Amino acid sequence: MPKMIFIANWKMNLGLKETVILIKQLLGGLKKIKNNLEIVICPSFTVLSEASKLLKKGNIKLGSQDVFWEEKGAYTGNISPKMLKEIGCEYVIIGHSERRQYLGETDEMAHQKIKAAIKEGLIPILCVGETFEERQEGQKDYIIIKQVTKALEGISLSRGQKIIIAYEPVWVIGSGQAVKPEEAEYTNQIIKQSLIDLYPRDIVEQNFRIIYGGSVDSSVIKSFVERSVIDGVLVGGASLKTKDFIKMINKIHPVK
Ligand code: PGA
Repeated sequence: MPKMIFIANWKMNLGLKETVILIKQLLGGLKKIKNNLEIVICPSFTVLSEASKLLKKGNIKLGSQDVFWEEKGAYTGNISPKMLKEIGCEYVIIGHSERRQYLGETDEMAHQKIKAAIKEGLIPILCVGETFEERQEGQKDYIIIKQVTKALEGISLSRGQKIIIAYEPVWVIGSGQAVKPEEAEYTNQIIKQSLIDLYPRDIVEQNFRIIYGGSVDSSVIKSFVERSVIDGVLVGGASLKTKDFIKMINKIHPVK
């Protein structure tokens, strides 16, 4: 069974000082993590280098919140997969709904980013999810299948290449109210079916992990990871405070 994964997305919330304090406290509080749980933090670009140095000591891994698809060149403001790799990132979030919403990112862009990330040996964390309007129009499942398929179709995967897909209903992110675990399980099943339509079954089982994100906190986390097709969580707001972060880890640690 693949390892369960806990990913913290710190978004644009913490500067250097605050990031260093939080990481030090987490390293102190999470010394006894068993190897059936993988923990990843995704801080801002500006603090990745410092974070990477601090994380050398512990068992927490580093991810970035975005990446560009070209290797180098005249692309002002962008960061290449190689640059992320160079400073110690292993994971990269791709297609987060906030980037789709505020920066007009598309499924085609997610596709290019995934391809580029994989080429450099990074593990993509692809975010998919419906808006409230799409849901009201009865389009939810269609949107999820479309986002997964467009992002991955045509990308061949080596046996060892890992990919994480996070189901994040857009209307639930930051709302304080997660969807019901059974709904996340149902949607993850749909994601799994989309993957089976794209890749051989053994690749789907071994290379992919399908997780849930959207208002996860310590009161609900366990009810999600107990479900059979939920291999972990992507947490925003609740991962910004040491106490809550550690509380969430303690809730899921013994589960799988
Ligand atoms: P949230 O964010 O946990 O604050 O809802 C999740 C995310 O956007 O990844």
